[in-house]
Order: sequence, then structure tokens, then C-alpha cells
Amino acid sequence: MSKSAPKRRMITSALPYANGPIHLGHIAGAYLPADIHVRHLRSTGEDVLWICGSDEHGAAITLRAKKEGIPPREIVDLYHEEMQKAFTGLDISFDHYSRTSSPKHHQVAQEFFLNLMEKGGFEVKTEEQFFDEKAQQFLADRYIQGTCPSCGHDGAYGDQCEKCGKTLSPTELVNPKSTLSGSTPVLKPTTLWYLPMGRHESWLREYIVEGKLDGQPHHDPKTWKAHVLGQCRSWIEGGLESRAMTRDLDWGVPVPVEGAEGKVLYVWLDAPIGYITATMEWCEAHGQDWKDWWQDPNAELLHFIGKDNIVFHCIIFPILLKEHGGYNLPTNVPANEFMNLEGDKISTSRNWAVWVTEYLEDFPEGSDAMRYVLTAIMPEQKDSEFTWSDFRDKVNNELADVLGNFVNRVLVLTKKYYGGEVPTAPAQEDLTDTDRALLEALAAAPGKIGGLIQRHRYKEAQLEAMNVARLGNKYLTEQEPWKLQKTDPERTATIMHLTCQVVGNCAVLLEPFLPQTAAKLAAAFGLTDGRWADAQPDMVQAGTTLGELPILFAKIDDDTVAAQVAKLGQKGGDTTREIMPAKDEITFDDFTKLDLRVGTVLECEKVPKADKLLKLTVDTGLDTRTVVSGIAEHFKPEDVVGRQVTLLVNLAPRKLRGIESQGMVLMASTDDGGLRFVSPEEGVQPGDVIS
Ligand code: 2FM
Ligand code: ZN
Repeated sequence: MSKSAPKRRMITSALPYANGPIHLGHIAGAYLPADIHVRHLRSTGEDVLWICGSDEHGAAITLRAKKEGIPPREIVDLYHEEMQKAFTGLDISFDHYSRTSSPKHHQVAQEFFLNLMEKGGFEVKTEEQFFDEKAQQFLADRYIQGTCPSCGHDGAYGDQCEKCGKTLSPTELVNPKSTLSGSTPVLKPTTLWYLPMGRHESWLREYIVEGKLDGQPHHDPKTWKAHVLGQCRSWIEGGLESRAMTRDLDWGVPVPVEGAEGKVLYVWLDAPIGYITATMEWCEAHGQDWKDWWQDPNAELLHFIGKDNIVFHCIIFPILLKEHGGYNLPTNVPANEFMNLEGDKISTSRNWAVWVTEYLEDFPEGSDAMRYVLTAIMPEQKDSEFTWSDFRDKVNNELADVLGNFVNRVLVLTKKYYGGEVPTAPAQEDLTDTDRALLEALAAAPGKIGGLIQRHRYKEAQLEAMNVARLGNKYLTEQEPWKLQKTDPERTATIMHLTCQVVGNCAVLLEPFLPQTAAKLAAAFGLTDGRWADAQPDMVQAGTTLGELPILFAKIDDDTVAAQVAKLGQKGGDTTREIMPAKDEITFDDFTKLDLRVGTVLECEKVPKADKLLKLTVDTGLDTRTVVSGIAEHFKPEDVVGRQVTLLVNLAPRKLRGIESQGMVLMASTDDGGLRFVSPEEGVQPGDVIS
């Protein structure tokens, strides 16, 4: 009978753009969950390969380089190093970290492109595209900005409106402007290779909705997160449009076709192929065949990403892989949502971020503490929020007071009573009900925690792992061996033997979450190379001599919290703001046509079945009228009532979701897609004219 090949797990984390440092939001999104997942798989002896690398192409890089006046190569070299430092500092344990500007990757991506081309996977079209005559460059993606045709947002990019999420092509933008020079672009013909995504709709629907590929079961869609499935479904239902897979740029993987000089592959074509290149590099170095990881049907593919990358990993990359043929498709894409920071969205341009390398300078021993807190608030199903006061509370009350305190007490008492040697195991018949309950909990913990990890429920998994320490702490407090030691040495030995078992189990079960702490526990309790299967109620041998253990978690004080909060928003972050270019000039007469007034919001409610709309009743001084405003994702109705606002009162009425809107409330758009009211100073009243 032939033995079936062992299942390999090919795991990827989104290749971060090498255009800036790594912040906590990145870590909580695509790297920490993957690290926990992979550490658990390694601990259970699975064949797992986890790769990542820097995404070094695309407008994110070239625009940054242009703004700083240095070549893209310098930008990517700088941040490739910086990002690796951040990952290593937080014990993010990739098997291999690569980069997409390497000659090897260029070659792999070009071969992939040619393969698709030969199969007729692209449509080649020559058509008019926006061109900046001043900068002598075609404009796509972030090189062009204008008004979104869908939601009216002024800062929509050539590929997407970040406000309403709609994918766009540059020619759909209203009032387009070059972000390079601010000028209005002209149209000029160029040739582009398009991926006709519509062709793939039918099998993609089957793959996403039913978890089937070529009619065969592929994965269980019920194991996918609801928000991931929801996004994919709405893409497919919305109809998949062709997407250009080449760009007229001088930085990227050159299009390997004669006559295509000055053209490169679209960054979202080359970047995911970077996963394959990285695997090839690792396999070359380890004497393995990369195909075993990507093409063997027995291997599984899992992509860890943030929610802004869902379409690329669930739709576009699968199309590329299937069209090429021979590749496995992902069995799950457990995307996380976003993590906010101290009541606001993380924003690199406003320096509203906690940069990992800065954190590690301030907290050199702080890797596990940050991993713990980020896992506890991981945005698995919905957006979450990091605050420094919550960080303090979790470190002080959970890590220091529960885990640290418990382990320390076990060690100190074992040293005091038994010279540091783990006492003899009790006879079965001497165990009390409480002892048995503790041992049963230990026996159940590895399966429970491992199951949660493999179902991508990292938050709950960590909670269960910490519950083991919590249980041990409670047991020790309640059993009070310090009161028994003189009168009942046998019972004392039982208590201490069992609490030593709890610490041993913690050393294994906490490893995916707190690798440094777990290593310290393992060293102090004489456990080397602990695997998941070693986590047993009797894993620590009687007679083991316990070693030294440093204080595991230093407490965080209020001044530290205040100092970290004060850092937010200060200068020193990424100061290359992208400012929406100015609109075309208007005359004074044009301006005087606008009737702007102070208004007071009297009532406000959500518009049913419209996620983005609020219905406001506004006192304009002239009358009381209804205004429908697309601000529901930013404000709750109760935050709006009573506000004085700036109102355009002579805008022609228009119907939104069946409600007539009679004016427009003016808002300022912030860099991170947020909104602020343009509110007059105090001392004005409804009807006052703004001029
Ligand atoms: O969003 C980003 O940061 C992208 N650089 C992710 C790329 S993931 C993959 F496809 F390479
Ligand atoms: Zn929009």
C-alpha cells in the first residue's frame, strides 16, 4: 500500500511595500496571526514553509522616491532593511524573507507573464491613457487623482477611491489631475495588457461560494471569514471587469515582449508571484523542490493579509494561478480587518502610528508584551483599537500579575522547600477532586488551543493558553502550600509537583504567542525543544533541578503611557503627504453663486439600508430642511445633533435613497480617509452668511 505524501503547508504573509517603516497595524493584520499559526504547526511537527518579503515596485515606491528626490533603489534598500529589523524584533519567524527587485524575481515574474501570454490569458489593447506632459509620464494608480464618480470624494486615485472602496480606472475620474505636477493630463495612446477577469467569473463563483474547483470539493467555504466571503461575493456579483496588468513606468519588472520598452508589469501582477520566487529561493538553499509546495495537490496554500488586499488574493491571484495551470489555489485567506489607534485611524502621514522599531527602542524587552496585547485585540472579525492605557492594563494585570506572579511563586517555593528540585509525583489515590480537575484541564488544553489556532481564532486561543496559567495561579493561591509545608509535607509536595506541571505546560502552550517567555520557562524547567505533544499533565520529571528565571514582565506606569500617547501625531513620521492638486481656477462671480450659511443640526438619523448616509434636519435660519449626507461611517447620529455646520443652501435638491436632500454640509477630508466638520467659530447663528 503506498503511503500518501505528508501534507505540506505553504503559508504567505502580504509582502509589505518597502516605502516606509512597519507599524503595529501591519503586525496585527498579516504577520502576528501568521506567526502564531506557523509556530503552532511547527510545534506539532507539520511540514510548513512561511515566506514573505518586501514589495519593491509600484507607485507606492516611485512616488516616495520622487518626493524625496532619490532613486527608488535607495528607498527600497533602506526600508527592506528597516522592515526586517522590525519583524525580527517582534520575533516574527518567517522561514524566508525575500524582495521583489531581485533579478531572480524579475525572471520568475517575466516567465509567468509569458506563460499567460502564450495561453491567450491577456487582451492587448492600444487606447488613450492620461499622460502628464510636464513630467513626461503616463498616469495610473496613485499618479492621478480626481473626484470619484461614485461618491464624489475629491481625493480618489486612478485605481481606487479609498473613501467608498470602488475600483476605478483613471479615465473614470472627474476633473483628473496629475499627482506629479498638479497639471491636467492629456490623452495619449499606449498599449496595455489586460486581464479579462470576466472570463473567469463562473469558476470563481464556484470556488468562492461553494469551495469547489473543477467540480471537485476544494475547501470548506464555512471555514472562511464572513467578511472575506462577503467582499469576494460582492466583487463577483458586481461583474468582474478587465484590469490592466502593465504600466508605462520605468521602475518594475520590464514587460518581456519586443517593442514593450518603457513598460513594466503591474505591481499586483508581480508581487504575489514574489511568493513563488521566495519559495524557490528557500528551496534552492534547502535542497527542496519548490513545486512540492505550490503544485503538489497535497500541499495547502494559505495567505495572511489585511482586508485591503482581499480582492488581489481571492480573485486576481487565483485567476493568474489557474490560467497558468498546475498551481494550487488558496484553501483559505484569513484576512484581518484594521486596527485603529487611540480613537483614530492609523495614519503614516500624520505620524499617528506606533512604529515597531521605535517601540523596541523604548521597550527593548517588550516583544512578548506587545505580541500579547496585539493578539488580545486582534481585528479578526471587525476593526479594533489599540490604546496605551489598555496596553498598560493587559501587561500589568494579566502578564505580570497572573503569569509572571504564578511562575515566580512556583519557582521560589520549589527552591525554598526542595532546594529547587521538582518534588515526587503523588500517587493517583492521593489526588483530591481539585487536583484531578487541574490535571483534566491540562490534558484538554493543547487540543483546545491548537484547534482554535487552526481555525484562525487567535484571540480566543491566547485566552485559553493564559487560562492555564490563570488556573495554576488560582490553584496555588487556594491550596496555600505555605500553610501546610510544616504539618503536611506530602500534600505540599503534591501541590508543588502539580504547579510545576502547569508551568511546564505553559512553556509549550504559550510558545506561539509569547516565544521569549516560553523559552525562559522551558530553560528554567529543564525542557528542551518542547513540542505540542509534550504538553501533558506529567511532562516535568520529578527530580528536575529548576534554573533561574528573570522577572518576566516589568510593569508599565502611567508616565510611560502618557509619554507614548504624547508621541502620537508629532513630527518625525512619514512627512510625504499627498495633497490633492488644486482644481481649475474659477472667477469671483462663480464663487458668489454659492450661498453658504451657518446651520444648526436639529435632528439626525441613519438612512435605512444605506451604510453611508445620515439624514439631517437643519435649521438654516431661512427654513428647516432635510440634508442627506454621506458621513454615516464617520459619525453617529448623536454626535451630529446640535452641531453648527457650514451649509451650501442653494444646491439643487437631489434624491438620495428616496429622500430629497436640500443642500450640502461641508466637510474636510483627512489624509487617512476620515472626515471633519467645517464648523464656524462660536457666536454665529443659523442663517449667518459665509463669504
Ligand atoms: O498592500 C500592500 O502592502 C502590498 N504591498 C501587499 C502585497 S501582497 C502580495 F501580493 F505580494
Ligand atoms: Zn468614492
